[in-house]
Amino acid sequence: MKIIIEGKEIEAKEGASVLEASLEAGIYIPHLCKHPDLEAVGGCRLCSVEVDGVENPVPACKTTVQDGMSIKISTEKSDKTRKMAMELILATHPAECTGCPKYGKCELQSLYQYMGVSAERWRKKSRPVPNDSSNPLIDHLFTRCIRCGRCIRACRELRGVRVLDYQRTKDGIRVGVDGGLSLEEAGCKFCGACIEVCPTGSIMDSLGMKKEDMSYSDSVVPCRAACPAHTDVPRYIRYIKEGDFVKATAVIREKVPFPETLGNICNHVCEDNCKRNEFENPISVCKLKKAAAEGDDGSWKSKVRREAATGKKVAVIGAGPAGLTAAYFLAKKGHSVTIFEENEKAGGQCRYGIPAYRLPDDVLDREIGDILAEGIELLTNNKVENPKELLNKGYDSVLVSVGTHKGTLLPLEGNDLQGVYVNAEFLKKARQGQPLEVKEKIMILGGGNVAYDCARTALRLGAKEVHIACLENIDQITATKEEIEEGREEGIILHVAHSFLRIAGSEKVEGVELQKVDKFYFDSDRKAVIELVEGSNEIIPVDNVIFAVGQKPAGTEAMEIELTHGPYIKTNESSETSVRGIFAAGDVVTGTKSVISAIAAGRKSAEEIDKYLGGNGDISENLLEKETPDPYIGSCSGFSKIERTSIELVEADKRKCNFDIVEKTLSKEKAMCEASRCLQCDLRLNLKAPKMWNEY
Ligand code: FES
Repeated sequence: MKIIIEGKEIEAKEGASVLEASLEAGIYIPHLCKHPDLEAVGGCRLCSVEVDGVENPVPACKTTVQDGMSIKISTEKSDKTRKMAMELILATHPAECTGCPKYGKCELQSLYQYMGVSAERWRKKSRPVPNDSSNPLIDHLFTRCIRCGRCIRACRELRGVRVLDYQRTKDGIRVGVDGGLSLEEAGCKFCGACIEVCPTGSIMDSLGMKKEDMSYSDSVVPCRAACPAHTDVPRYIRYIKEGDFVKATAVIREKVPFPETLGNICNHVCEDNCKRNEFENPISVCKLKKAAAEGDDGSWKSKVRREAATGKKVAVIGAGPAGLTAAYFLAKKGHSVTIFEENEKAGGQCRYGIPAYRLPDDVLDREIGDILAEGIELLTNNKVENPKELLNKGYDSVLVSVGTHKGTLLPLEGNDLQGVYVNAEFLKKARQGQPLEVKEKIMILGGGNVAYDCARTALRLGAKEVHIACLENIDQITATKEEIEEGREEGIILHVAHSFLRIAGSEKVEGVELQKVDKFYFDSDRKAVIELVEGSNEIIPVDNVIFAVGQKPAGTEAMEIELTHGPYIKTNESSETSVRGIFAAGDVVTGTKSVISAIAAGRKSAEEIDKYLGGNGDISENLLEKETPDPYIGSCSGFSKIERTSIELVEADKRKCNFDIVEKTLSKEKAMCEASRCLQCDLRLNLKAPKMWNEY
């Protein structure tokens, strides 16, 4: 139908309000209590307009269009109504805007500047209402509230949580929770919709939640931002909640080709950044990923992006997570990819640095098989000394992703005795089925997860008494709580805050001399400072010592590429080394990090190599149609108190005798239940931001 606004004829949809029709046609009408995602209530009266034939101004947001209707936005009567409405709103709002966190983005500020209205006629003093910072994640600054009710409508109608409402208090009417309960007690789901729709700075993310160096969406969805590969965590958690593990895995696979591997061993920085940490424990993201990946049916394969052959050849040296990821995405871009791997199998650190009881071979084999199925050639037992050779052999580009497979031997007296091993070799030999000999008593030196990998592997190889000693105290130790606890259950003896003085013995290891550490810290030059407790020396009798104090790349010195910090390959921002056409990625560049960091580095290098070869560098893919999630999340009493689902393990006595997987996978029901704990922080980003007057 057609209507006339300010003398201009416009098309309007049947059933639309005058406000909607006008804004749709690009004609601005001031408005405040109406939000694009919320029903109109006609409360603020800022949208007052005059309709021909109607005596008094009407709210445009509550007036339905009729064919031929003629509307005037600015008349003496409508301007007067609007101005008075704005003056009344401003009367109880703080006069000073500059201290407000929403300064410059406040709809109210924008509107009264547009209208040129001052509150002087009405203002007596601002309301003496205290702010409420007692809730996790949400701060409520009542003095800035203009009682437009958008937060209440978002909570009740849009989300169905039904926690917020108007409350009558001795200080007047304000937004709050019935019965004086806290948001948690009332069952708030902390989805943040109220924050998103608030036109002023009245409801805000708790101070400190918004990080200055982050985009808005990254601040709002910190789990996704924290994942080095930026897997869309809330999106796949939502599919798991709905029981659709196939779709969940497709979402994960859009970013990483190793969902099940990661579900077993990811260091899950997403969980460290989960907003649920503000209440108790984060969502069990890693174990949900494992459950989803095990329930996958592979239907994503039909959606994989495959571009026409480019005729370009890429060589990848090293079939670890970085190299395999890069190869996978480069192959899909149409390049011909060959991987050169010095070991007998692909997998790199996942295969040779992580024990099978944490990551079984069959999982790796399956996921590597899917990668190679993209037409990638894998040449195992094939060591490349110098990547330049491959350029000379006709490859257009080479990626070096050889990882850090050389263990570090500390310069300690006795480190050359028989029975001394280093982590990398010890773990690799065990995984290859040719374990180094372990005797009865073992000492691992180091306090990270790799120390626990060595200790728990030694137990499974037949050691009877296994010790771990590290400089760090229990609060500083880098091994995860889970590793420490699982190791303790298996009988591993942990000596925290101990320095290693020497390995005792004449030909063979006989013991390790330890001394208690009083203080261990890094000074301003990042030098380790260790203060020992005098007279606390003791010798622990052991037959083997395993160093687990770090590892570094092997063989990079012979590559004729510029190195940095010793054996690490130097790259520029485009992952390219000092030699044109030779790129590097993963631990060999950054030092030992996580598998997910290596995957992220593999993706980045694939983008850069594709650009180098003349492509557009776009490796993104959609393995699933984008669906708009249901904004109605409903109510759930005690939502914030729902406990994290614990992961079942094989009993310690049974598991420590073999290399079978230790962790049991969450059942479908348990996974769905755990996923339902997610706050769905991303949902609020689907709300439409109202356009300010200067955007029309
Ligand atoms: Fe129409 Fe508030 S926007 S009355």
